[in-house]
Amino acid sequence: MRTRSRTRPSCWPEGADGRARRRNDEGNDPLVLAHARALLTGTDEGRTAFVDADLHETGRVLDEAREVLDLDRPIALMLMGTMGHFPDLDEALGLVRAYVDALPTGSFLAVCDGVLSDSVEMDPEQVAEFTRIWEDGVTLPYVPRSVEDFTRFFDGLDLVEPGVVSVTKWRPEPVEVGRARDLPQYCGLARIG
Ligand SMILES: C[S@@+](CC[C@H](N)C(=O)[O-])C[C@H]1O[C@@H](n2cnc3c(N)ncnc32)[C@H](O)[C@@H]1O
Repeated sequence: MRTRSRTRPSCWPEGADGRARRRNDEGNDPLVLAHARALLTGTDEGRTAFVDADLHETGRVLDEAREVLDLDRPIALMLMGTMGHFPDLDEALGLVRAYVDALPTGSFLAVCDGVLSDSVEMDPEQVAEFTRIWEDGVTLPYVPRSVEDFTRFFDGLDLVEPGVVSVTKWRPEPVEVGRARDLPQYCGLARIG
């Protein structure tokens, strides 16, 4: 039977022993910032930077991004496993739109998030276990959306083939055995303008 999954399948809160651990998974996670300071330092070949901000602070994020990126040239905006942290759909759509509107024609938007879909093929017990680990392990809510709602992030943009699909089906490498299953994590890529 196909299951209507309620799993929260984004980044996984795991300790070195492989066991789920509690962490502060907020937008200002100090561990994430420590890694960013250590690793996102840039090189002569290419500049890399991070902004210590909440996504709601669109103006500040864009202003600081402008210090490193030329926003008159095409940009790739990637929101991976993040918009599920904004349970209100209108708020989430408005935020993505604010960033998309700041980008020039020829830019791209990529979004990947947990979804609820009847086409997802997963063992219901596995789904229940994922959900339990997630809820025990993190403090920041993460809400998977219907595929229909998830697809709205790309409203008005030109979706690139194969459109909005399970991450396992977005231009997969050929496999010799078996087939890719639909997972409760969907993604899409669209051209802006
Ligand atoms: C599920 S993790 C995904 C992380 C990473 N993009 C990945 O794919 O591995 C969600 C991320 O969203 C960040 N996040 C959640 N709410 C946020 C907010 N309001 N502003 C900025 N970041 C936020 C969290 O700090 C976390 O790093």
